[in-house]
Amino acid sequence: MSKKWYKEMCVYQVWPRSFKDGDGDGIGDLKGILEKLDYIKSLGVDAIWFSPLYASPQKDYGYDIADYYNINPEYGTNEDFKAVLDGAHERGLRVIMDLVINHTSDQHEWFKKSAAGDPQYKDYYIWRPGKGKNGKKFPNNWMATFPGDGWKWNEERGEYYLHLFAVEQPDLNHDNPAVREEVKKIMRYWLDMGVDGFREDVITYISKKEGLPNGFPLPAARGMEHYSPGPNLKKYLQEYREVVKEYGDRLQLGEAPMMTPKNALKYIEGEDRVLDMMFGFQHMEADCFMISWIRLPFSLKKLKKIYNKWQTRLYGRGINANYIENHDQPRNISRYGSEKFRFESGKALCTMYTFLSGAQFVYQGQEIGMSNLDYEKWDDFVDVSTFSTKKLLEKLKVFSDNKIMKMAKYAARDNARTPVQWDSTENAGFTTGTPWYTVNPNFTEVNVASQENDPDSQLNFYRKAIALRKEYADAAVYGQFNLHLKGHKQLFVYDKIGENGTKLTVIINLSEKEISSKKALKYLCPRATEILSNYKDEVGAKLRPYEARVFACNLNACHEE
Ligand code: GLC
Repeated sequence: MSKKWYKEMCVYQVWPRSFKDGDGDGIGDLKGILEKLDYIKSLGVDAIWFSPLYASPQKDYGYDIADYYNINPEYGTNEDFKAVLDGAHERGLRVIMDLVINHTSDQHEWFKKSAAGDPQYKDYYIWRPGKGKNGKKFPNNWMATFPGDGWKWNEERGEYYLHLFAVEQPDLNHDNPAVREEVKKIMRYWLDMGVDGFREDVITYISKKEGLPNGFPLPAARGMEHYSPGPNLKKYLQEYREVVKEYGDRLQLGEAPMMTPKNALKYIEGEDRVLDMMFGFQHMEADCFMISWIRLPFSLKKLKKIYNKWQTRLYGRGINANYIENHDQPRNISRYGSEKFRFESGKALCTMYTFLSGAQFVYQGQEIGMSNLDYEKWDDFVDVSTFSTKKLLEKLKVFSDNKIMKMAKYAARDNARTPVQWDSTENAGFTTGTPWYTVNPNFTEVNVASQENDPDSQLNFYRKAIALRKEYADAAVYGQFNLHLKGHKQLFVYDKIGENGTKLTVIINLSEKEISSKKALKYLCPRATEILSNYKDEVGAKLRPYEARVFACNLNACHEE
């Protein structure tokens, strides 16, 4: 497989509102980001992906855009963004913008004009008359991903509009060529400014089946089979691809719920691919059924099976986008790891995914071991999807209030959105004002400052792992994945073999219980040397809780012996 920067990149994701406040109003902003560019660079990453920075009423914290051409005033100005962009470029960091084009905010001018019936904008969204005698029945049975009805009545227009997310996020009508031209204009605006690519939000939803037929009568996500993906997805993506191609070496990364490796390849394989890679979700379902709210015991077996599928099917054909956290997922230490063994498990999870083939993504705070918040009451949550899920669960009348609260504590996206813990001073050094959202009280133990100078900290472990992934790119990024001990419930053992003969062997005890190391060590070459470990001493007869080791050897040298 040809070698390219984006295949090897490690990307740091910034969710701006909670990253760093630079002006003391309690809200993260571009001034804060500018202050922390050196920190981001120090991780050894190649790029930053910014969750939406655009003007937005923040109903879905930026994923509801009211103006694609301007920075949200709470975060700064377009000039402030330019300063961050230039600052990143000066440091050799590329910048990837979030592009949210499945929907806008209901406060966007287009929507207001569309609702008013303005001839130029009337078909920018997906409007349908109501059904039934009184004309008030929904046009079809689709549901929104933030659970609830997929349609909202608009009094002014006298019609329903489709919203696959919050009520305030009306879906754009990409079947309208004028909408696609608007999208291209937006892309050009930011590409002209110098951004290096886009992370395209729920991009696989942008085309809906003609006639909007009813979906299978499921209790959630009803209708999904008609838009995920829809019939014209590839055609529209091709058009957007052409724009990006005009600018040369830029990146397109699509968020793709429900994606399988087989389907992903239809979009990401070959020279005529329409996206460079996709964020799949399956590996985030090893402790749940479809969504983290429907919790199941963590199954390492399931996780390994999913990784095996993606790693082997995409081998030599497409690039995986490897992540274990983002702004939509609760913190991973609280899910696949263990808060009791915070740093052991944090480092083990880092090891687990760093050496998988593909590009790597690290979410703010992941590198220092941030974990879920210990929520006590509903007032402590702020995310729109938390409340819509709560409402749906209440309606089902199957779970007690207590149980629903417990589910939310484990699963809510809010967990990922607490301010980054910079140091042990007030508000974790995130702001000098009042933080817009609760700081996790564990900030006195878990923060950047305390880990900076500790060579054994999780932060420095991440730096080391990221650097090793680069150093051993042939095997780590491009190599062939071989999974061992497939059915084992505690051990995650795989090797990666690069074309240059380098073999990496990754051995992890992904559990709180000690286990004999014998089975795992069987896969080691006799000449292999250890390159990474989260325990200080040499590997022994037992692997301790979350013990993780990576070994390297050169197969050519081994065979010569
Ligand atoms: C994506 C985003 C998520 C957002 C949703 C609607 O899944 O990552 O944060 O709420 O799309 O835009």
